[in-house]
Amino acid sequence: MDKVNFTRMENGTAEEYAFLDQLEEQFKADLPERLIERLKSLNSSLSGYQISRLEHSLQGATRAHRAGENMEMVMAVLFHDIGDELAPYSHSEMAAALLRPFVSEKTYWIVKHHGVFQMYYFAHHSGGDRNVRELFSENPWYQDAINFCHEYDQNCFDPDYDSESLDFFIPMINNFFAKPKADDPEEVARYGKRT
Ligand SMILES: [Fe+2]
Ligand SMILES: [Fe+2]
Repeated sequence: MDKVNFTRMENGTAEEYAFLDQLEEQFKADLPERLIERLKSLNSSLSGYQISRLEHSLQGATRAHRAGENMEMVMAVLFHDIGDELAPYSHSEMAAALLRPFVSEKTYWIVKHHGVFQMYYFAHHSGGDRNVRELFSENPWYQDAINFCHEYDQNCFDPDYDSESLDFFIPMINNFFAKPKADDPEEVARYGKRT
């Protein structure tokens, strides 16, 4: 079989779905490759800053790595702006959704809200509320999100920082995105099963 016969999913057979499952497994295995390509495309997005979004992402990930953060945090920083191109109105959520199967609920939450927390650094210059992050002040990860933005995002626009290259991170990407994280029973109890 090189393709299925059905034109409506309801008419597919077990054999056809087994065939598609096999292809999907391969497609999933190629995810790191696609992620690397998307990262590269950040090289030409959002002009006006001193460095590209790719350089910004590499700088953040390098700072996180050098600070001794674990792989999950380094990858979260590296991909936190991956949604910039396709989701300019919800880029934080897009990055968080991409990371979710591979990271803890805490890291997911931080990435999902990083855009709001970043507003602290600039929103007041254009009539916005820089303190809008305080909406989340009761959240157990509030301070973690502040730290994420302070250490690995708002300060990562420096053209003189000696960031590692994308090549440095490729083995980590291949490793980290090879397989989704197993569900943590405590997280499932608290937040429900991942979907
Ligand atoms: Fe961002
Ligand atoms: Fe950023």
